[in-house]
Amino acid sequence: MKRLVATMLSIALTTSAQATGPNDPDQRAAETEARMTVAERIGLLHGIVALPFPGLAPLPEGIPASSGRVFGVPRLGVPDLAETDASLGVTNPFGARKGDFATALPSALSLAASFDPELAEASGALIGAESRAKGFNVLLAGGVNLTRDWFGGRNFEYLGEDPLLAGTLAGASVRGIQRQGVIATVKHLSLNSQETLRDTLDARIDEAAHRESDLLAFQLAIEQGRPGSVMCSYNKINGEYGCGNAHLLNDVLKRDWGFKGWVMSDWGAVHDVSYFANGLDQQSGAQLDKKVWFNEPLKAELAAGRVSRERLSDAVQRILRSIYAVGADWQPSPQKIDTVSHAALARKAAGEGMVLLKNDGVLPLANSARSILVIGQQADTGVMSGWGSSQVLPEGGFSAVIPVGGTGAFTSQSRQNLVGRSPVKALQAALPAANVQFESGYYPEAAVERAKRADLVIVMAGKWQGESLDATSLTLPQGQDALIEAVAQANSNVVVVLQTGNPVAMPWLDRVKAVVQAWYPGQEGAEAIADVLIGKVNPSARLPMTFPRSESDAPRSAVPGLGEPVGTNLAVEYSEGSEVGYRWYSARGRKPLFPFGHGLSYTSFSHNSLKLARRGNLVTASFSVTNTGAREGADVPQLYLVDRLGKPVRRLVAFSKVWLAPGETRTVSVSIDRRLLAHWDGTGWLVLAGRYRLAIGKSAEELEHPAEITMPEQRFTK
Ligand code: BGC
Repeated sequence: MKRLVATMLSIALTTSAQATGPNDPDQRAAETEARMTVAERIGLLHGIVALPFPGLAPLPEGIPASSGRVFGVPRLGVPDLAETDASLGVTNPFGARKGDFATALPSALSLAASFDPELAEASGALIGAESRAKGFNVLLAGGVNLTRDWFGGRNFEYLGEDPLLAGTLAGASVRGIQRQGVIATVKHLSLNSQETLRDTLDARIDEAAHRESDLLAFQLAIEQGRPGSVMCSYNKINGEYGCGNAHLLNDVLKRDWGFKGWVMSDWGAVHDVSYFANGLDQQSGAQLDKKVWFNEPLKAELAAGRVSRERLSDAVQRILRSIYAVGADWQPSPQKIDTVSHAALARKAAGEGMVLLKNDGVLPLANSARSILVIGQQADTGVMSGWGSSQVLPEGGFSAVIPVGGTGAFTSQSRQNLVGRSPVKALQAALPAANVQFESGYYPEAAVERAKRADLVIVMAGKWQGESLDATSLTLPQGQDALIEAVAQANSNVVVVLQTGNPVAMPWLDRVKAVVQAWYPGQEGAEAIADVLIGKVNPSARLPMTFPRSESDAPRSAVPGLGEPVGTNLAVEYSEGSEVGYRWYSARGRKPLFPFGHGLSYTSFSHNSLKLARRGNLVTASFSVTNTGAREGADVPQLYLVDRLGKPVRRLVAFSKVWLAPGETRTVSVSIDRRLLAHWDGTGWLVLAGRYRLAIGKSAEELEHPAEITMPEQRFTK
């Protein structure tokens, strides 16, 4: 599998060599911009929804349907920006491009659970390659909002609750994408934490807390990936809409972080022309807004002198610069996609993202002549996927489409789409000596009767979520808890496989033998579930989100604004500040059901004592990891700051993923980003002089080998 990642990376490098050479993108951008007319400049600043929706003007001849398009300047070789959503693969909204399929990767939360930047980069390269082959040069991929709440409908598109983990993986994914000559878009700046009332919600947060949490995730992703574009969010942040938020766009993103790319709006998120002066460079999907603000109204602003020519040049040059820096000015030429190696990567990614939460020795399953009953979640058909703009149409189409509907243009179209093949068939193929049968679980009594006769029962439980669909509790829907409980009464060997986009409660946990968190595992999910259950893949994933014991343990116990009509103004105080996820539970002493960073393996690991060293401003840590079990496997040692100047604190400051043969020992050396030791003091970062204690974590709650280091005071801005 390692070889596979290497192949993917080499695909990435080869293709990037074919892209136009990015010679001094700033200079090229300035030269091109100088040759443009005002109309051409303005033309680059707004785009369309490129979909054949009722009520929208028909698409111009030859333009493929996709999330969006911005028309270029052919006489100057400025390409159209052909935009497609792509958080988990290249999308084909509502199947508008007939017969056009793409590799459906597992959810981003699954990627986060891998704790593997190499995998993130390879996945990015895969999406970038498919995007290029289909003629799209801008990917709306790179969701890095922290998963602050257990209910967030789009958490499956994000990379978990920790800024270091999310920022590092998003940066790696952007690198993979952009090596293909395709621009990546880190989104949604900022605090797009819930779906309910996302268009009117005002996310309120203290500036320092914001810088130390969600903004830090964006900052790391931007530094490490250098995305061509950033997408601002629907919601307000401290009273100003994300896409018109001068502080966030001008002061933080462009000034403090030195972001050189352009800011595009989310679709339907521009409410006024003043957003241009406030730092928004491009209005996306403009038909969804009240006006094409960045066309005639912007011209009027320029004519009246309320917007300067310099600002116009700045916005245009930012777009051109990204095109040149990434090498996105290629001519589309259909290319064949290596679906076989891409499917192999999707399978590897799904396996690497599955977290073994509990195992009382029943896993991995042996290939013996015993009867295994698989119950629930259409396990004879496919696996679950998340709904919304990130939904990918995999090769051959969905395995099942269940209309759900609702109110509103988008929600009324919602569908539970199953992807891939049947986990039951995958298990039958993987365990030829066993007798693997399926039972829908629709009638629990029937499931119980059959469970009594089986040697082992696997319950596939699931919870469907997506864009516009926040969860309303931690409970599994449709009586699945009662089903698991009843089956566990009937059979003492129950394994639960969860397909969810968020944490769920597990009232039956003590009565089952094993639990595997499979997230939404993508088109190869069925085979990957079998791989993990039979031990072909030794689980190595760790939770990127805390699984709380109850809603009331979390900062918000219910979805703010639930049930209020669309358009209602709502303020959400993120009073937990930078204490997101595990930091909150640890500070409050609330023991979670499963902590952030938790995940078991079919082998075991030990860590030896932690050594800390400081050279100048740089703190490094080293320790060794040994595989003490009998199987090859990967450990994810985590390093936490646990005490700062005598005060308890919990922050992930470094992590690593280490593959080890049985008995093998490796030394792990990591350096620590000093922002993770610091706090934001209003104008910059400040590391206070004094003693800092760190510890190695098997999770955010299982800490060992503490060590201390003394730091001098340090102030810095980036
Ligand atoms: C989503 C974005 C997406 C855009 C275009 C919006 O509704 O919030 O993430 O990129 O649509 O499809």
